[in-house]
Amino acid sequence: MFQSLLHLPEDAILGLMSRYREDPSPRKVDLGVGVYRNEAGLTPVLDCVRSAERRILATQSTKSYVAPAGRSEFNLAVSEWVLGPGHPALEERRVRTIQAPGGCGALRVGAELIRAAAPAVTVHLSDPTWGNHAPLLGGCGLRLARYPYYDPRGHDLRFEAMLEHLSAAPPGDVVLIHACCHNPSGADLDEPQWRALIERLLERELIPFIDLAYQGLGVSPAADVAGLRLVVASVPESLVAVSFSKNLGLYRERVGALLAIGADATRADVMSSHVLQIARSIYSMPPDHGAAIAAEILTDAELRSGWMVELEAMRHRIVGMRALLADRLRAVTRSDAFEFLRTQRGMFSLLGVPAEAVNALRGEHRVYMTADGRINLAGVTAENVDYLAASIGSVL
Ligand code: LMR
Repeated sequence: MFQSLLHLPEDAILGLMSRYREDPSPRKVDLGVGVYRNEAGLTPVLDCVRSAERRILATQSTKSYVAPAGRSEFNLAVSEWVLGPGHPALEERRVRTIQAPGGCGALRVGAELIRAAAPAVTVHLSDPTWGNHAPLLGGCGLRLARYPYYDPRGHDLRFEAMLEHLSAAPPGDVVLIHACCHNPSGADLDEPQWRALIERLLERELIPFIDLAYQGLGVSPAADVAGLRLVVASVPESLVAVSFSKNLGLYRERVGALLAIGADATRADVMSSHVLQIARSIYSMPPDHGAAIAAEILTDAELRSGWMVELEAMRHRIVGMRALLADRLRAVTRSDAFEFLRTQRGMFSLLGVPAEAVNALRGEHRVYMTADGRINLAGVTAENVDYLAASIGSVL
């Protein structure tokens, strides 16, 4: 039977990770996979995570099953962390949150829920978008389309074209929206744009599916979800996929959640019954350890304020490295061509250079980035920035 299978290429982002690890060059620079790195180039365990973990190890009395929905205290805390206490959708009791195996798990469960409700709809993804969105959402059989979002050569948001595309989408179609720190472009919507988008969603009766993977790494934990909160308050139905991989540094623990928001409490209960069955049929129950850590941090005042300090430090480092690389590139290229790095948000930006330049950077300079020219700004350090800027300058 398996004779019929053809060998598939490696995942573009994860393949890059192994290529980088195998490279013996001492000069190599990793701007590939989206993980936070400190000034020493390491991805440390946060102090708040270590403290929470110690408490859990000291008090946990069983490893028995939890439930397909995961921990209830985690789910409650995540709803409030994302939407803010007193959010209208919470007051109206139309939010149902389930713990999921990472943001990816949440996206896939959400996709399966869409397919269960309306198998013929199209999910509109931003062009460009994160490389795993299409496999996660299209993998369950949903049709995909792309809406214009960002021009990597001009470094401009294509907002008018995005709205125009959505005007032609039939009612009931789904729009995948990045809540903040757009991956791969770092270009986010401002408040008037969020409002115009909401108007279009309402007019066309489109369903937003919001991917929230970087809360706290853009401007602040609240500012990064201001648009998301407006959307959820304004439209009758929406989905939100949440990841704690980056902002809590819990990558390998697979901690995420899906918020299913219905038109009213009864519809939300029906959605939730499907979500639970989908979870049961794919992975039965989400892994517990990381969610126990996140719940401890979200619900304990001291751990939570410690987290806010650590999160702010990560964000400041990224903002600082954006400015530093923009400064060095300005000096190397004697132009403003890379000023966009300064104002974009989160870990990623697209250099907007041709594929040959990306290949030359990897082959000749051992600077690793994804084929579309996406760089992870957290991979920049005071030590490698000059080499990096000179390498980029030399391939242009
Ligand atoms: C990335 O975009 O590099 C990260 O989200 C890691 C991944 O799973 O692709």
